[in-house]
Amino acid sequence: MERTGRVVDPVFVRGWASLKQFVETCADWLGERPEDVCRRAAGAICIATEGAPDLPVVAPVEQPVAASLVLPLLDAGPGSPLAAAMRSVAPLIPWREPPQGEIEKYMGGRNCMSRLVGPDSLFRSDAIGFGTFYMAPDVLYPRHMHAAEEIYVVVSGGGSWALGDGGFEERGPGNVIHVTPWLPHALRANDQGLLMLWAWQGNIDLDAYRMDAGDDD
Ligand SMILES: [Fe+2]
Repeated sequence: MERTGRVVDPVFVRGWASLKQFVETCADWLGERPEDVCRRAAGAICIATEGAPDLPVVAPVEQPVAASLVLPLLDAGPGSPLAAAMRSVAPLIPWREPPQGEIEKYMGGRNCMSRLVGPDSLFRSDAIGFGTFYMAPDVLYPRHMHAAEEIYVVVSGGGSWALGDGGFEERGPGNVIHVTPWLPHALRANDQGLLMLWAWQGNIDLDAYRMDAGDDD
């Protein structure tokens, strides 16, 4: 297959198509939720995927290390329907260390994330950041806050969230956790680990993010 003078590997094209299909499956799932924040996220993701080129601008690169963390959790079940969708594309997801520097201090090497939709992501959008997030067993993501309105969706495994002044409450596959702008929140993976989708809407600038570890750790 050739486009603008370069040869594109057909395996690579299939990988791109699989990632796009996964993102669209996630948007479909969110679009059927009753929460307004989920339906808004679905709409923004769909605009990004519909505007994407037929062929990738950035190559999906196999991520064997991340896949070795994530795949056992996807196989452990019971997961949400999203777990099945993620199973086939997990090695192609552009997993990386989270960008917020302070997270490393608390979670270094025991978590990875991707941003599949966003300003500089595979699917371009200035309205939403959307991707996947993995935390190893028993890892704590300390109290933090940001201007963005956020949802987390548990795909597989489980964990607990503390929102505002509330205590930690357990959540499992298929649960949506809604975080309003600047609401302090913390989360902790259970002894299986925690695989999630995340989405930021509104002010998605990383400069509007603060870590306040407090006495969670
Ligand atoms: Fe957050």
